Order: sequence, then C-alpha cells, then structure tokens
Amino acid sequence: MLKMTCAKTASFKNSAVAALVGQGGLLGAQGLLLDQKTGGAVKRALKTFSSFKGDKGQTLTLLSPVKGGPALVVLVGVGDVGKADALTYENAGGEAYAAMVKEKTEASEGLLLSESLKGSLLSEEAVAAHMGFGAQLRAYHFDKYHTKKKDHAAKLKTLALVVKNETETKKLLAEKLKLVAGVTLARDLVSEPANTLDPAAMMQAAVALKELGVEVVVLDKAQMEKLGMGSLLGVAQGSEKPPFLVAMNWTGDAAAKDKRPLAFVGKGVTFDTGGISLKPGAGMGDMKYDMAGAAAVIGAMKALALRKAKANVVGVVGLVENMPSGRAMRPGDVVKSASGQTIEVLNTDAEGRLVLADALWYAQHQYKPRAIIDLATLTGAIKVALGECYAGLFSNDEALAARLLAVGEETGELLWRMPLHNSFDKTLDSPIADIKNISDAPLAGSCTAAHFLKRFVNKGTPWAHLDIAGMAWQKKGSSLCPAGASGFGVRLLDLFVIENSEK
Ligand code: BES
Ligand code: MN
Ligand code: ZN
Repeated sequence: MLKMTCAKTASFKNSAVAALVGQGGLLGAQGLLLDQKTGGAVKRALKTFSSFKGDKGQTLTLLSPVKGGPALVVLVGVGDVGKADALTYENAGGEAYAAMVKEKTEASEGLLLSESLKGSLLSEEAVAAHMGFGAQLRAYHFDKYHTKKKDHAAKLKTLALVVKNETETKKLLAEKLKLVAGVTLARDLVSEPANTLDPAAMMQAAVALKELGVEVVVLDKAQMEKLGMGSLLGVAQGSEKPPFLVAMNWTGDAAAKDKRPLAFVGKGVTFDTGGISLKPGAGMGDMKYDMAGAAAVIGAMKALALRKAKANVVGVVGLVENMPSGRAMRPGDVVKSASGQTIEVLNTDAEGRLVLADALWYAQHQYKPRAIIDLATLTGAIKVALGECYAGLFSNDEALAARLLAVGEETGELLWRMPLHNSFDKTLDSPIADIKNISDAPLAGSCTAAHFLKRFVNKGTPWAHLDIAGMAWQKKGSSLCPAGASGFGVRLLDLFVIENSEK
C-alpha cells in the first residue's frame, strides 16, 4: 500500500503537487499559494491552455514549472463545485496519483492539496479523505510474479494530504483505508492465477477473516454430500481440487430488532474451462477471474469486519473448479440440488448457476436472511449487453433494486436493471427433470440465467442478482482502478450496508 500521511504545510520543492480546480479555473487558497510559489505558472496555464477548464475528470500536468519548485504540478478538475460529491473527489485523487507517476519524475513525495473550494458540499477533511482513498485504489498493483520488480510509481513513495485539520482527516482516512483493504483483497484474489488460487486457497482467504471476529464455517465435500448439494458437487467432480462452501458470518448488531442477516452470495469458480462443454482456447485464460463474485463477497466481509460495521451480514461462497475429465459431468446428466429440485445439465459450461443453486439454498436454509444479493461472473451475454460499464441487476423486489441502483451511482460501481419475465422462466422447463441449466431459446442468456437462480430463491425473500462478468476485469482501467482486477462489488456492498443497515 502507498504510504500516506497528513500535513498542515509542505515544501513544494522537488515534490509532485496536485491541486483541485473548479469549473472555469476556480482555485482555492492552496491552489493560489501553489500559483504564487511557482511564479504564477498555475494561473498562466489556466489562461493559456485552452482545453483545460477544470471540468470533472480533466487533468493538466506541468513539469518543473519553476526553478527550485515542484518537480511536477497536476491540476485536477472537479467541475461544478456545487455538484462535486464524494465520488468526484475519489476520482480526482485517483487521477492525480496517476498523473504524478506517469511522468516518472525524481519526486519522492506527492502532495494532494486538499481543500474545500468555494461552494463545496464537502468539508476539507472529507475532500482529503476521499482523495486519499481514490489515490490508494489507483495505486494498486499486482506484481508478485515479476522477478524483476517493475517501478510502478517511479520514485514516488509517499503521498501527503495537505489539510488544516490533520487529526480529523486522519480519522476519516483510517476508516476509508479499511475499505481499501477489502477492495485490495478482492483484487488480489481475482488477479491470482488458478494454479495458486484453487478452491482450498480461496477457502483459506475466507478463514483468515476469523482473526477479525468473523465466524467462518467451512463445508467440505463430505459435508456437502450429506446436505445433498449435488448441483455444486456435480460441477466440482471433474476436478482434482476438492470443493468448499464457506459461510462468513458477521454479527455486528446484536441488538437489532430484526436479527436476520443480509446475505451476500458469491460464485467462486476458481477456473472455468467449461468442463466437457469445453470453451474455445482463445481467451480461456480469462476464466481465472470466474471467482470474482466470491472475491467481492470475501472482500466486503473483510471491510465490514475491519470497520466493525453495526450490521448483521453473512457471506456465502461456493468454491469449485470446472474441469473436463473422466469423472466430469456429461451434458445430459441429471443432478439433484440441496433444495430438492432436479436439474438436467445440458451444458457443463453453464456451471455458475449450478454452484449458486446450492449456495443460495444454504444461505436461506441456514441463515433465513432478510434479503439476498448474489454476485457472479455468470454470463458472457451480459458483456454483450452492458460492456465494461454496468453490471446487470436482476431483482424480484422493487425496493431492493432501487436501493442497489442508488448505491451504484454513489460508488460509481454502476448497475443497470435487467428484466425478469415469466416467458424466460418457461424456457427452463426440462422434459426429464425439474429444470434444465440452459434455456432452449438462444437469446437473452443473462435473463434466462437469472431465472435459473430465481427458482432457488424462496418465495417472499427479496433477492438481487448482479451479473458482474463484464465488470470483474477492466481491460482499460479507470480513475480508481488500474487495468486488471477491479474488485467490483466491494465498495457497492459496503455502502449498501451503511445505507440500509447502519442508518
Ligand atoms: N464464466 C462464464 C461467463 C463469463 C464469460 C464470465 C466471460 C466472464 C467473462 C460462465 O460460466 C459461462 O460459461 N457462461 C456461458 C453460459 C452458456 C453456456 C449458457 C456463456 O456465457 O457462454
Ligand atoms: Mn462456464
Ligand atoms: Zn463460469
């Protein structure tokens, strides 16, 4: 993690300095001071550089603007200050950090001049904490397998938030860093290749949360057999790697009127070859991230435990590897799920829903949750529909869907509501079993997949399914995330808990 401090004042000499700029070139006191210390370079740039107007998301980098001054200055636009929210400053922090390291200057210290510009909705301390949070998320990298260390940040080793009230800022930042730890865990798990991250390794990552006071229950193959989880076990049976089902229970609100927890359920297929319905070779390596739903659940549970969330939440993850072998499931096989429903497996590559069927059953049977949110890299079709911009949201409950959409907007982990409809459901009827695992219609693959899951949700239980296949891995990256594993869902779930259980 990037080393981060708070300071009242700082010397600009040889450092990389970022200043916020509101729409139309609006500067605050710190920005004006920076301008003074650089012989007017900031104002000159604002005047002469025609495309930088301080719009939201814009940055402008000035290299060594004055002799004996900063090595680099980044001006970061936040747009209309009266509309700039937490996410705006998080993105600004992320972009500022990225601009600071891009030029690989000699600067060893970065300064984020955090201030409340005129008309700001947020206090200076909050601006600072959000910028620091954004910079930390952007500074993530996964380089454990490079034998020659890559220099991600050139010389930049520390980042200081420059603010008047250090104590308050530190407090706010410390809370935010707990969420960074959750996102980082999810990203690390997703980045890890499948030869090192098998179901057992992922189970261990969940078990490690015991240290934070999470109650962790691990079911092995024999225990799952006893419970009749033929659906999840059917997927696992082709692999040499033993499967696990893990429940992570956080009871942070013992005094709650409604003790029933909120349940997060994650798909944890540590590698998806497709099984006997083998995937084509090109791009198959991507399927190491087919456990991103489970990673998001584990990451979110970590964040909740670290910040001792006043909420009752259980995370359930189904961990398996989907491999072809002499023991593997065949297309046409019929398996029996723990819910009692029989499933005709017509395509062994539609395995995520088979894993979730038993994980959803377990979450409901064991914990009687008041609502369920599942996360899964479930279908390639959701990428066709929503790209790398939105995760698909399917829900049987209007209020739950509305809350999730709102939290998505606030965190920038965007969701797009997708339809459930009886006509999709009908296409899942099987002539030989209660349900088949692929629809007989070739269209609307994400919707039929959601309907498959719906058959395993008890009537009356509010449920939302997030298809994150397009979001778990970002080819280009974004303000808060370098290219690669995004940790999508951790920030979303954390804020969902804050807004719906802790307020
Ligand atoms: N894990 C895949 C979905 C996926 C695709 C995730 C691309 C991330 C990126 C899932 O198990 C799968 O193979 N789905 C099939 C379903 C089909 C067989 C009905 C798909 O989308 O092709
Ligand atoms: Mn698959
Ligand atoms: Zn899969």
